[in-house]
Amino acid sequence: MFKINDNYLKLPGSYLFSTIGKKVREYSQANPEKEIIRLGIGDVTQPLAPAIITALHKAVDEMGASETFRGYAPDLGYEFLREAIAEGDYRARGCEIAADEIFVSDGAKCDSGNIQEIFSLDNKIAVCDPVYPVYVDTNAMAGRTGVYEEASGKWSNVIYMPCTAENGFAPELPKETPDMIYLCFPNNPTGAAITKDALQEWVDYANREGAVIIYDAAYEAYISEDGVPHSIYECEGARTCAIELKSFSKNAGFTGVRLGYTVIPKELKCGGTSLHSLWARRHGTKYNGAPYIVQRAGEAVYSKEGKAQLADQVAYYMKNAKVICEGLREAGYTVSGGVNAPYIWLKTPGTMTSWEFFDYLLEKANVVGTPGSGFGPSGEGYFRLTAFGTYENTVRAIGRIRAL
Ligand code: MLT
Repeated sequence: MFKINDNYLKLPGSYLFSTIGKKVREYSQANPEKEIIRLGIGDVTQPLAPAIITALHKAVDEMGASETFRGYAPDLGYEFLREAIAEGDYRARGCEIAADEIFVSDGAKCDSGNIQEIFSLDNKIAVCDPVYPVYVDTNAMAGRTGVYEEASGKWSNVIYMPCTAENGFAPELPKETPDMIYLCFPNNPTGAAITKDALQEWVDYANREGAVIIYDAAYEAYISEDGVPHSIYECEGARTCAIELKSFSKNAGFTGVRLGYTVIPKELKCGGTSLHSLWARRHGTKYNGAPYIVQRAGEAVYSKEGKAQLADQVAYYMKNAKVICEGLREAGYTVSGGVNAPYIWLKTPGTMTSWEFFDYLLEKANVVGTPGSGFGPSGEGYFRLTAFGTYENTVRAIGRIRAL
């Protein structure tokens, strides 16, 4: 008789954004006349930039001619894209990352879920609380997180690093030493940023303790303030302790196109084994590469036109962030984030729980957001709104919330 991976049975409920999607669908079916504004999942609304569309068209034409047709992409990504990334995201910022330390994939969500496979099940993970649920859930599926305790909303074998208003939504170095540390900055869900000095402390800590940092920089394009690092490799010593994950979803609107990458410096080793070679082995075995067409679109992100058009797109979403922050503050809400990130983190009014506020907003304002408690116990009493809507819908949503 076959057996299942019963770690899956330990997972509470369904994936956060699936639960929200279901609730909204049910509400919508029961109230078809209501026009719902979705500021829940961080999905983009602006069309792909013209430079990207041109690159896509050209690549499609190439696929239609026998001289330029391409089959399987190289496992680790086409050289033209890896070079563009190494130059545009790293060398241009003074970070020493070579093209062959970059692994192209179909997005940071998969990479952030899969990366744990190259680590021993004995490792203990540390996560911010609240946290992007993929990091914890995928470790739970692998059997690394112990038992889920309903009452506390925590896993028995995970180190939680609370990020609350009291500590400015910045995790403190944990008392118990973890093996793997997940950090995401600018942060999803709180929208908080980390300074370079603070990130340097994490890098020094990881090197000192022999821990690895898995650094999710998916929202880097939204950084607007000086002193906030765009990459962990801006910190000294990060090459021996950090893996960085990047996405094209948020900076270039690729949520439906799918492209991302992972950086593993060659110096990052466990004993004599390089993590780079383990991930290369995993990638080669389990993955056939992002499509040529999509990788050409990714290359266009780094072109002069692409960069200018995408800076405008980021500015468009950050204008929404300002509308949300200012509107909510004027309405008396306590709000943070929205300055270096497209997420706004607000305190729910009075004693309302995150899910109560979710229902209230859905029913009374027909606005969808994300309950903070869905990201972890320290998210209780908070709520996340995304700046990725259209400007018109964002203004209307805030108008409706203010009118409550
Ligand atoms: C979110 O809303 O947190 C993100 O869109 C989820 C994701 O990027 O997978």
